[in-house]
Amino acid sequence: MARRRVRVYQDNIRLTLDAIDEGLSQSFIMFLNCTTPYDYIINIHFHSIQSCKNFCECSMNHLRCTKYAIRSGECSDAAAKETESKPEDLGKAKSAVFVESCPIPQGTPTVKGYDWNKGVNYHALLETYKYCGFQATNFGLAVEQIRSMLDCRQIPLSEDQLDDLEDDDYIRRRTNCTIFLSFTSNMSSCGVRDTIRFLVQHGMVDCVVTTAGGVEEDLIKCLAPTYLGEFNLDGRKLREKGINRIGNLLVPNENYCLFEDWIMPLFDTMLEEQKERGTVWTPSKMITRLGEKIDNPESICYWAAKNKIPVFSPAITDGSLGDMLFFHSHRSPGLVLDIIQDIRRINTMSIKAKHSGMIIIGGGLIKHHVCNANLMRNGADFSVFINTASEFDGSDSGARPDEAISWGKIRKESRPVKVYGEATLIFPLLVGETFAKYYHASKTKAESQV
Ligand SMILES: NC(=O)c1ccc[n+]([C@@H]2O[C@H](COP(=O)([O-])OP(=O)(O)OC[C@H]3O[C@@H](n4cnc5c(N)ncnc54)[C@H](O)[C@@H]3O)[C@@H](O)[C@H]2O)c1
Repeated sequence: MARRRVRVYQDNIRLTLDAIDEGLSQSFIMFLNCTTPYDYIINIHFHSIQSCKNFCECSMNHLRCTKYAIRSGECSDAAAKETESKPEDLGKAKSAVFVESCPIPQGTPTVKGYDWNKGVNYHALLETYKYCGFQATNFGLAVEQIRSMLDCRQIPLSEDQLDDLEDDDYIRRRTNCTIFLSFTSNMSSCGVRDTIRFLVQHGMVDCVVTTAGGVEEDLIKCLAPTYLGEFNLDGRKLREKGINRIGNLLVPNENYCLFEDWIMPLFDTMLEEQKERGTVWTPSKMITRLGEKIDNPESICYWAAKNKIPVFSPAITDGSLGDMLFFHSHRSPGLVLDIIQDIRRINTMSIKAKHSGMIIIGGGLIKHHVCNANLMRNGADFSVFINTASEFDGSDSGARPDEAISWGKIRKESRPVKVYGEATLIFPLLVGETFAKYYHASKTKAESQV
């Protein structure tokens, strides 16, 4: 009867085998499958070369098919020599290790990184990302998707494609590729706000979708700054000091008081207009009004209003804006926001689009709202998702573009990209490699023609 001792350490299994046979190997494999959720390092001490050989014969193929690998095996020098001297035994192991490869299709790119001997050149570095592998490759593919959107956008609309009959300036088709940009609230809280503002300022996107925080944080920053803090600041102490934390950013409560003072009179006027002129307010129309009134070129909403780019926010009440609307409804009841008019507006934009591109930073509502609008045209032509979410939980946030293809929200023939990662690192670089280059190139061209 074979004896064995198995010790399981945190990331290491030590197995001592005095003798081994097929039954023992099978029970060892079952033991691994039942007890080791991770890729353990398995140190196996064989007392005799025979047990080593038996073990390999019985388990090697099986183990190679599982997530476990024998990372180190120990046997005596003599045993090793004995193994070397039997080439026919090695044959089996070799055939297992060196399974013959099919030829790689011609033109398959090879993996390569940036050569720093060429100097510090961030554009050149980012150009190499596509060939680096992992998320760097996805970044490179996302650059290509956005460049495709911009190239498509530059093709002029023909006479019959001009959308002259559309009364609503905000949803009129303007270019050959309608770009939908959506982002989570925290993108307005952090410095990505300035990158988004640049895009909206220069009319490089046609439609914006965000959550309530994405609107109010943009406006509040015009009234008072957001500060840098740390992720690990104590919530209780911050509460006592009246300071709110968003990740490693800090927003004093005072900022929200300033926001209240600024916004309440605007709600009063909106209510008056609703009563006197029958104005039907929607979240996007309210955001346009707020953008006009903030009158500050650092704001996304300011430029959106100026450039007649609609900002949709169907969950507008889930944030400080909701708090303000709540208080206002007690002070002066009656203000109504109609979300149905807004769904008509965004869906109509999608239906009108000759081509459409989606750039979605983050998940949740902002991701689905843009994808769902694109369903109305049988899917977007170009898509870039940037987020940290995974699909294993079945969430829409984590769903890969392929899932959206199954719903008809992205076209089957398109080449959508998801970049897994934190957007503050990715999005400014992505804009630098795409929109900003196009903008500065066309500005230089225009200046040289003057
Ligand atoms: N500053 C704020 O974040 C803020 C302020 C006020 C209100 N709110 C409210 O909180 C609610 C939830 O916020 P939300 O819907 O905007 O999104 P969220 O913060 O809940 O994020 C949704 C998902 O987007 C992805 N994501 C978020 N940040 C990311 C990043 N930096 N990089 C990559 N992926 C990222 C993650 O997968 C996340 O699960 C909204 O109703 C919003 O109005 C937020």
